[in-house]
Amino acid sequence: MRRLEQVYTTLIAAVAALGGLLFGFDTGVIAGAMLFIVPDFHLGPAEQGLVVSAVTFGALFGALAGGTSSDRFGRRWTNIAAGLSFVAGSVFSALAPNVDVLIASRVLIGLAIGLTSVAAPMYIAELSPARNRGKLVSLFQLAITIGILVSYIVDRALAPEHAWRWMLGLACIPGALLVLGMIAMPESPRWLLKSGAEKAARQALSLVRSADEVEPEVQEIREDLARNQPAAWSELLMPGLRPALMVGIGLAVFQQVTGINTIIYYAPQIFQKAGLDSATTALAATAGIGVVNVLSTLIAIWLVDRVGRKPLLVAGLVGMTISLAALGAAQHFGSTFDVNQSWVAPITVGFIGLYIVCFAFSLGPVVWLMISEIFPNRARARAAGVSTAANWTANFLVSLSFPVMQAMLGPSLWFVYAAMGVAAFIFVIGWVPETKGKSLEEISRQWRRASTSTVVNQ
Ligand code: BGC
Repeated sequence: MRRLEQVYTTLIAAVAALGGLLFGFDTGVIAGAMLFIVPDFHLGPAEQGLVVSAVTFGALFGALAGGTSSDRFGRRWTNIAAGLSFVAGSVFSALAPNVDVLIASRVLIGLAIGLTSVAAPMYIAELSPARNRGKLVSLFQLAITIGILVSYIVDRALAPEHAWRWMLGLACIPGALLVLGMIAMPESPRWLLKSGAEKAARQALSLVRSADEVEPEVQEIREDLARNQPAAWSELLMPGLRPALMVGIGLAVFQQVTGINTIIYYAPQIFQKAGLDSATTALAATAGIGVVNVLSTLIAIWLVDRVGRKPLLVAGLVGMTISLAALGAAQHFGSTFDVNQSWVAPITVGFIGLYIVCFAFSLGPVVWLMISEIFPNRARARAAGVSTAANWTANFLVSLSFPVMQAMLGPSLWFVYAAMGVAAFIFVIGWVPETKGKSLEEISRQWRRASTSTVVNQ
């Protein structure tokens, strides 16, 4: 019986994680598609920027809307809404008769990504048992990395036909699966209890827990709900919630300002600049990065409930920071002293690879996981929405500024991201609590105790 519940919980997590697949696919696919959209629609630089960044812009609003809608309509319906706008966005962008429709469709896809990045991890966390919540929520990140990899493959496969409409349109298939799958899934028992639907909450919980586990968990959730007031937007800044919100926003921002998307979005250019002049070799190295990203996420899935969240974050940040500093140093010395520079390319590929490995087992999955688990039941959706919106804002600023900053700072830019890595390390050691193996309600109690005794870490 226990096994059946585990299988069902994994199925629920896998269905919700389809949102992550679309998140990764839709952010990755545009690079290859742009090669053909630009000449087809005769786009200038400003329009190109709009087509690419429309998704990030939409995601920012989607994240905020995701917080409100997960509270009002439930986690399940918010995931369904995300699936519907993924389908609509991909169909409209595939059929776009002009650039305006294309930009509007990309905003719609962004909205879907924002909704899913709040609602999917939270939904999975609220249905998972404490002992393997880390692993199950990390499936969301695994799906993001698979989505990015699939987008590289689709771009390459369809490039000879210049089939950018197919590249964008294919996303409607996983989008439809997300909608249909989520319709068949139960609502989060925590949201049901928060909304007063006790009977439905027990029913939902009994699908994913053995009979003896249901009642104690219902009691625990009820106590948490009774102790914490419903959080309006302004109340998120009240002393009781503020420390958790700072951790959520801090993690979300550090995930981006340590530079991940300069590599995910610009890898081919970075490799070409480092000396892999042929576009094919640069693209092959980029595909390699995609594979490494997927495989290294498995390390987190294996370890996150064993060693905990903090050790992964700490180890990952050390590795990321060393890789960034080494990249900066190698490229600096290469351009200053060595005219030949033949050794810069392999070193660049090596350290970028190491950086990706370290991100993929730490900041990648653990940030989404912790945003889904550190807030009390009453405030979770809104606080996760705000943290996620901060993630998308930072993403937007970093990816927008990268080409300009690179032109200004050259290889020294890597030192800037390395410095962010050091700041993130200090932040994690000093402020981020360990949540491994604790129920969501225990984590909420831990913050309450900390706000009265000022001890968060233990
Ligand atoms: C980040 C994305 C990033 C991806 C790379 C995610 O956790 O939020 O911004 O592109 O990881 O794998």
